[in-house]
Amino acid sequence: MPTRTRPSVGWIGTGRMGYEMAARLARGGADVLAWNRTRAKAEPLAKYGARIAERLPELAACDIVFCMVAAWKDVKQVMGELLEGKRQPRMVIECSSISLEGSAELRQLLAARGIEYLAAPVSGNAKVIKAGKLSFVCSGPRQSFDEALPLLKMIAPAASYVGEGELARIVKICHNVFLGVVIQSLAEITVLAQKAGVPRHAFLEFLNQSVMGSMFTRYKTPAFVNLDFKVTFTPELLRKDMDLGLDAGRRLEVPMPLATLTRDLVQAMMGRGMKEDDFATLLLQQAQASGIELRPENVAVGDGLS
Ligand SMILES: NC(=O)c1ccc[n+]([C@@H]2O[C@H](COP(=O)([O-])OP(=O)(O)OC[C@H]3O[C@@H](n4cnc5c(N)ncnc54)[C@H](OP(=O)(O)O)[C@@H]3O)[C@@H](O)[C@H]2O)c1
Repeated sequence: MPTRTRPSVGWIGTGRMGYEMAARLARGGADVLAWNRTRAKAEPLAKYGARIAERLPELAACDIVFCMVAAWKDVKQVMGELLEGKRQPRMVIECSSISLEGSAELRQLLAARGIEYLAAPVSGNAKVIKAGKLSFVCSGPRQSFDEALPLLKMIAPAASYVGEGELARIVKICHNVFLGVVIQSLAEITVLAQKAGVPRHAFLEFLNQSVMGSMFTRYKTPAFVNLDFKVTFTPELLRKDMDLGLDAGRRLEVPMPLATLTRDLVQAMMGRGMKEDDFATLLLQQAQASGIELRPENVAVGDGLS
């Protein structure tokens, strides 16, 4: 159990997601010491009262350290640097979307040093975090989850505990496979409706209010209607997650025909050089394959978040 009411919190990784998550913690009054490989991206957190570390090992003196980087190789690297000295945190909360195997390796590494570990990947993009609608899925010792919950709740209203070990990782992987398949399907039907003569905004307005509409279809609507593909989640990160899903499917002998096809459509988009914009550019690939050229509709549409 925590010995202090206000634990010191280290935050590794202030990219698109990590920055907004750390900002909510700092704004909520947590004692945050943040580090990012590219320091300039962490510096604006100072306006919310966070301190910015020069070197990653400084965070080892914190009670609890969050990590939000990219892939397992990156998590491994930052954890190695965090623990290079004599000090160590009491608990690590790892939020990046990584494999079950990577997560299990991290658990072993931390257990060997007596550090508690909560796997805590998330659902939602940076805008969702800002809107206060992020969700965590967590696994590890129940006691660690209970201890971390007040901090998790400062970042996101929803934090589900799904059990011991790395179970949260497979839940997150399943979630993102669904994300990939859904956006590809949304791109297909939007282009189909448009080629038949229905403006995208009108089609999506109906869909969003139907039983098939969701927070996701609503917040992707402005991108689909006005072709604003400012990145929220890169094609590369989506491909990583589709690959994690297909790997798990192979290991557990679960056929995933829709995920397989979608993974290759993401790959095709990247092969065409469409790597830097948002993954919603799957819409543009679908339009090209359908022989139509999309233009922004310049219609004000809500994203359902504000
Ligand atoms: N974007 C989304 O909608 C979303 C939603 C849910 C989950 N996720 C997951 O959240 C994680 C972060 O995604 P993001 O969109 O925030 O990505 P991002 O904007 O590219 O940020 C990645 C962060 O990781 C750091 N990093 C990467 N490799 C590193 C290394 N080897 N050493 C040290 N730092 C390293 C980057 O540092 P630099 O700033 O120096 O590059 C940056 O802070 C990923 O696992 C992603 O799959 C993303």
